[in-house]
Amino acid sequence: MTSADATSTTTTLVVGATGATGRWVVKLLLDQGQNVKVVVRSKKKMLNILEEMGTKDADRLSITEASLLDLSDAEMQDQVKDCNAVVSCLGHTLDFKGLWGHPRKLVTQATKRLTAAIAEASSSSTTSGNNQKTKFILMGSDGVANPNGQDDKRTSLERTIIVLLRLLIPPHPDNEKAAAHVHSLGTNHNNLEWAVVRPTDLIDGEPTGYFQLFDKPQGGLFGAGVATRSHVAQCMVQFILDQEKWEKYKGTMPVLHDIPTAAKSEL
Ligand SMILES: NC(=O)c1ccc[n+]([C@@H]2O[C@H](COP(=O)([O-])OP(=O)(O)OC[C@H]3O[C@@H](n4cnc5c(N)ncnc54)[C@H](OP(=O)(O)O)[C@@H]3O)[C@@H](O)[C@H]2O)c1
Repeated sequence: MTSADATSTTTTLVVGATGATGRWVVKLLLDQGQNVKVVVRSKKKMLNILEEMGTKDADRLSITEASLLDLSDAEMQDQVKDCNAVVSCLGHTLDFKGLWGHPRKLVTQATKRLTAAIAEASSSSTTSGNNQKTKFILMGSDGVANPNGQDDKRTSLERTIIVLLRLLIPPHPDNEKAAAHVHSLGTNHNNLEWAVVRPTDLIDGEPTGYFQLFDKPQGGLFGAGVATRSHVAQCMVQFILDQEKWEKYKGTMPVLHDIPTAAKSEL
């Protein structure tokens, strides 16, 4: 593995690549001449999506057709071993089976297994003289608190709603546990560095306009703004390709909001 710099070509594994955000990560990386690997449940769906999006350089894409959690540990290590970055945009399908069926802990299980695979695969490559760290970038949510305790305290009504979400909507505790696991890896991990991007309420759209990163949630739990999914992807791609930005945000859980076009993006 090599660290990304202005001249190198990177390789990124994207999981949740057919999703409304993951597809933008794949497209933006391919359009910039980067190599992308995906593990998707339907290769046909992935190819159709990329064609509809007018993606360039799709020959730089390597597709494995599988349900991610069905991969063995060795297969998972094989997926991550040559990667500069691993991006997770996984999310539960918004239907009865996706919300309440199995795997209830899709994002947490995938996060634990992917980070373990990075550690294992990197240890093997470190022994062969390569000690660069892999970037693990998780899509979270601004409804997920930063375990470092530095988010503003929620109102008692918001705290009640979060408890209800935990009890009633399994994807919410799944996102919380996944972020907590990544955070627990600390900032001195031997093999990987991480960031959890926490968008506010997601909307679809082209990556026009601007977004901004904040160190904690802005406003209340609901109706505090929107985050265009393609902006979330743009942010993740910048983390992969722009080492200066990565140095600033690695080991953090920035909250992402769209901002009015008149204002300028921090990134
Ligand atoms: N809604 C919001 O306002 C909001 C705000 C902040 C954060 N978030 C979080 O952001 C994340 C991504 O959101 P999104 O809207 O971009 O996601 P999305 O469009 O729902 O995409 C979900 C992705 O996960 C994959 N997936 C689902 N179940 C799977 C399984 N059992 N095994 C393997 N892959 C599976 C889907 O694959 P298939 O195409 O094969 O189904 C798809 O690629 C979610 O975790 C969500 O909770 C949401």
